[in-house]
Amino acid sequence: MNKSTITLSSDPEWYRKAVFYEVMVRSFLDTNGDGYGDFRGMIDKLDYLQWLGIDAIWLPPFFQSPLRDGGYDVADYREVLPTYGSTADFDEFLQGAHDRGMRVVIDFVINHTSDQHVWFQESRANPEGPFGDFYVWSDTDKKFENVRIIFTDTETSNWAFDELRGQYYWHRFFSHQPDLNFENLAVHEAVLDIARYWLDKGVDGFRLDAIPYLYVSEGNTGESEPPTHAFIQKLRAMMDREYPGRMLVAEACQQPHEVVDYFGTAETPECHMAFNFPVMPHIFYSLRSESAAGLVSTLESLPEVPSGAAWGVFLRNHDELTLEMVTDEQRAQMYEWYSPDPRMTVNVGIRRRLAPLLDNDRSQLELANALLLSLPGSPFLYYGDEIGMGDDIWLDDRDASRTPMQWDDSANAGFSTAEQDKLYLPVVSTETFGPHAINVASQQNDPSSLLSWTRDMLTLRHRLGVFGTGTMNLVSASDPSVLSFLRSPESGRGDTVLSVFSFSHNTLGVRLSVGRPNVTLLDAVSGQPVGATDDDGHVVLELAARGWHWLVLGP
Ligand code: NOJ
Ligand code: CA
Repeated sequence: MNKSTITLSSDPEWYRKAVFYEVMVRSFLDTNGDGYGDFRGMIDKLDYLQWLGIDAIWLPPFFQSPLRDGGYDVADYREVLPTYGSTADFDEFLQGAHDRGMRVVIDFVINHTSDQHVWFQESRANPEGPFGDFYVWSDTDKKFENVRIIFTDTETSNWAFDELRGQYYWHRFFSHQPDLNFENLAVHEAVLDIARYWLDKGVDGFRLDAIPYLYVSEGNTGESEPPTHAFIQKLRAMMDREYPGRMLVAEACQQPHEVVDYFGTAETPECHMAFNFPVMPHIFYSLRSESAAGLVSTLESLPEVPSGAAWGVFLRNHDELTLEMVTDEQRAQMYEWYSPDPRMTVNVGIRRRLAPLLDNDRSQLELANALLLSLPGSPFLYYGDEIGMGDDIWLDDRDASRTPMQWDDSANAGFSTAEQDKLYLPVVSTETFGPHAINVASQQNDPSSLLSWTRDMLTLRHRLGVFGTGTMNLVSASDPSVLSFLRSPESGRGDTVLSVFSFSHNTLGVRLSVGRPNVTLLDAVSGQPVGATDDDGHVVLELAARGWHWLVLGP
C-alpha cells in the first residue's frame, strides 16, 4: 500500500473541513537562484505548511505558458513550465503533500488557452483542420454585444482580429487568451482528457477558473448560460464515476442567487465548492464603515448550499480585491478607503495585500481572520498573509501582490526599493513590509507574532470542529457595528459556538439575542467563562474596539 492512503483522511467530504492555502509556485521558494520559485522549493516547504496547520494546497497554473497572465495563459496543459521544474518534481511534491496528510488542488483553466497553444496555432492556420472549430471565430466583431469586458484596464473589445485566418476570435480576458469553443464536442473531450491526466497523477481537485464564461449566445451576457452549467455537470459526473473523492471549486464572481447555481442540485450536482465572492468585499466594507449591516444582509441573501457542498471563503487571493459584488456607492467609498493612490486600482478592484489594506494593524488583521475562520465554509488563506507580508504596487498589474514569500531577512523579496521609496504613503514602505521587518524565520520563534497567532487559530479551528460543517444562524445584536452568529454541529453532537465581531473603532456594550436560555459562554481562545444567557436567551457583552469572541455554549 502506498503511504498516502495511510495518512490522507478517507472522508470524501474532506474539503468541508479543510483549511486551504493558495500559493503560486513562482512566488514561494527559489532553490536554484534563477529568481523564480520552483517545485523543489515547494517540496522544501511542505513541512512548513504542515506545521502551520494547512489541510490542502491550491496551486494556480504551473503549466507551460508564455506567462503573460501569470500562467492563466496555458500553452500546454500537460507540461510543467520548465522554470518550475519537471513532471517528476511535481509528482514528488504531490506525494510529499499526501504523505503529510495534505491535499493538492490545481487550477483548471478551460475557458481559454494562450494564443501560443498548438490548438490555437492550428486553428488559425487550418480552419478546415481538426482544430478549426476549437475557438470562437467570426467574420464580424459585432456579435454578442451585450457581453461586458472584464479586463477594463487593458481591453476595449472581446473580439480580436487574427491576420492569418482573416477572422475575429472571441476572448473574455486578454486578447492573447482566445476562448475555447464549447459548442464543439471535441473541445469537451479534449478538456475531460486533460482532467483525467492530472486526476490519474493523484491531484485532489480542480479550481475551475473563469467558469461562468464557457458559453456565449446572442442577446445574452455570456455569464452562467445554461449550457455552461450542463458542461460542469458533465465534468462532475465524469469525476464522480471515475475519481470519487476528488473535488471541484468554482471561481464564479457572481451575485448570491447566481453563484449558488454552481453547486448544482442533488440530481445534477456541479461543484463541491464555490468561492464566496459576495461576502468578501463586505468584510472590508464593514471594517471601515464600522457597520455590520452589509455583511448581515449578504449572509441573509445567500441561499443554503446543497448537502455535501461548501463555500470557499477568502479575504485575498492572487487577483485584485474585486469590487464587482458591491453597489456603485459602496465601490466608490472603498476606493477612497483602500486605494488612496490610483496605482493601487486595477480593473474593478484593488491590487493590494491584506496587511497593507488593513494598515498593518494587528487588531484589524485578527478581526478579519477570526471572521474568515468561523464563517460557513472552508477558508482559503493566501500565502504570505499569515506573516502580514506587504505588496509592491510598482510592479505591473496583479503582480503587485505576488512578490516572493519572505522566508528570512534576505534582501531579495521583490521590492523595487528605489521606486517604493517614491511612494507618498508612508505605510507601504520597505521598512514596514520588507523582508527585514516581516519574515517567517523571525515570526516562527516568536509566540506573539502574527504567524504564531495564525497557527494557534488554525489549531483551535480544527479542535472546535463545528466551523467547517456546522449550520449557521444569525444572532440579532443591539448594536449595528456587531455581527454575530451561532454555528451548530450538523450532526447535533459537539460544541455550538457563538461568534461575535465588533467593527466599531470604540469599546461598546451589546445585547445579543442568542435564543438559548441559561447557557454559559466559554471563550474558546482564553478558556475563560465570559457570562451566561438569561432566561430569555439574551446576553450583554462588553467588546473592545474591533473585539471579537468565539464563545462555546455550555450546558
Ligand atoms: C481568473 C484568474 O484568477 C486570473 O488571475 C486570470 O487572469 C483570469 N481568471 C483569466 O484566466
Ligand atoms: Ca528557481
